[in-house]
Amino acid sequence: VPVHRIRNFSIIAHIDHGKSTLADRLLQETGTVTARDMKEQFLDNMELERERGITIKLQAARMAYTAKDGEEYVLNLIDTPGHVDFSYEVSRSLAACEGALLVVDASQGVEAQTLANVYLAMEHDLEVIPVLNKIDLPGAEPDRVKQEIEEIVGLDCSQAILASAKEGIGVPEILEEIVHLVPPPPDTIDQPLRALIFDSYYDAYRGVIVYFRVMDGRLKKGDRIRLMASRKEYDIDELGVLSPTQVQVNDLHAGEVGYLAASIKAVEDARVGDTITLSQKPATEALPGYVEAKPMVFCGMFPTDADQFADLRDALEKLKLNDASLNYEPETSSAMGFGFRCGFLGLLHMEIVQERLEREYNLDLIITAPSVVYRVTTIKGEVVYIDNPSKLPSPQEREKIEEPYVKLDIITPETYVGTLMELCQTRRGIFKDMKYLTPGRTTLIYEMPLAEVVTDFFDQMKSRSRGYASMEYQLIGDRENALVRLDILINGDPVDPLATIVHRDKAYGVGRALTEKLKELIPRHQFKIPIQAAIGSKVIASEHISAIRKDVLAKCYGGDISRKKKLLQKQAKGKKRMKAIGTVDVPQEAFMAVLRLS
Ligand code: GTP
Repeated sequence: VPVHRIRNFSIIAHIDHGKSTLADRLLQETGTVTARDMKEQFLDNMELERERGITIKLQAARMAYTAKDGEEYVLNLIDTPGHVDFSYEVSRSLAACEGALLVVDASQGVEAQTLANVYLAMEHDLEVIPVLNKIDLPGAEPDRVKQEIEEIVGLDCSQAILASAKEGIGVPEILEEIVHLVPPPPDTIDQPLRALIFDSYYDAYRGVIVYFRVMDGRLKKGDRIRLMASRKEYDIDELGVLSPTQVQVNDLHAGEVGYLAASIKAVEDARVGDTITLSQKPATEALPGYVEAKPMVFCGMFPTDADQFADLRDALEKLKLNDASLNYEPETSSAMGFGFRCGFLGLLHMEIVQERLEREYNLDLIITAPSVVYRVTTIKGEVVYIDNPSKLPSPQEREKIEEPYVKLDIITPETYVGTLMELCQTRRGIFKDMKYLTPGRTTLIYEMPLAEVVTDFFDQMKSRSRGYASMEYQLIGDRENALVRLDILINGDPVDPLATIVHRDKAYGVGRALTEKLKELIPRHQFKIPIQAAIGSKVIASEHISAIRKDVLAKCYGGDISRKKKLLQKQAKGKKRMKAIGTVDVPQEAFMAVLRLS
């Protein structure tokens, strides 16, 4: 394909604004996939997913489109993940494009997540084409939403396309606009090969399948390639395009999007953002923007049953093949036994991994509350990074503690501004700015410790705004704070995995709330259990759980046997997912208690 007839674009949209529906429509309209195949293919993929335990998403699609000018164009749609945890991957996908469709639900409006991605697209100098979707809905207000986009994003919306992905309205116009407005890739076929990896997944038979955009030069099957960041070399076994299923081709050149297989053993060796070049005639400089995504949130994972330790290790190893940003190392805790300390890009990433370990690998896990990474300077002037509160050097050994901060953007209907500001305040937020976007909609900007965001902040924001507010955040660096470690003692013994790092001013409140919560969550035993919160050797809050058995049965007055059974069953049920800490059985929820204090 001549370069001037290629268009590479992605779709930017908030969750549920219609990205997938529109993508499907574009594939149908261009005849890339028929409506019938679409269904079948979807089913196929589900089957594959189940079989191999991996998620195959439509990551890129190549469409042939004959425009009104009579010429045939190749349109490559590159998908972007839709969550803040994966914003680095979004930035790499956008770097592979020259344009983006900005899809906004005309009955809703611009959301925080859309905004963050539009700004990323603008940073990459992409041509952004606004599309107002769902105009078939009776509540659609395209004019209001156009105005909103113009004011917030600063994008001219006079030519914005009114569409309904559901009913196929506006779809031909979108294809024409892509051809006319998105610039063709630069013709750099004669330069040394540089291809940008924007996604990859692990396939048990062929090794890692790498998705890339050729930025300069060309490559063909059999070529020996070099990955510039990982410095590894491979021979291309298979080269192809995604139309949208994998179709093999012999060569690809600058401007094109494709995939390759080269017996690469783990996605770690071909990371998103890395540059592919040729071993024979390598490029002198890698493409800009590569970073090794760093885990931001850490937690401990321990099998409930110590015999499952080896299974947990094998499962993590397998997941790691397909997930370069998952980190783990063995951890031993006096309270919990053998397990792993795992690092994730964010909370969603953590939840996805937990769920897969439990569902696909049938593991019963106790997971400890997530922690951010603290930068601690010792009195000797050394800097250590602490991702586990129980490892924090003592106050005598440390000079200062710094914690990561984020810039938080919230977009909300005006009605909820008060309650959301209050929420931010209690989470140590520093108010930065408030702007009225359009009548009735407001954006709030705060700086806040990441540790306060990775608790249940998102859920709280959603419930306080009845689901209407959206948020986005960005790391802005570490800041010093008066932080202390809060220890929890159960039955007189400190329990490592329950230790947390909190601001000194909040320590008493958190200590009190936490001991009360634990009292609720830990079932009664046959003996009295003291629960204490302490800073160093100073106890700042205490509760106790009174001894049980006789209490529960006493309520039955020895009468109704079925009621007695029920009560005992209830107790037995509560015993699932418990970890014995000394002589006390502690349920999974207790380890997360610190997240749900408000
Ligand atoms: P995520 O995959 O969750 O990010 O969502 P998405 O942005 O891909 O949205 P998706 O295409 O899944 O659409 C979300 C919902 O909106 C679905 O129930 C669609 O059927 C519906 N939808 C999409 N486009 C339209 C439209 O033009 N009109 C109407 N009425 N509904 C639409």
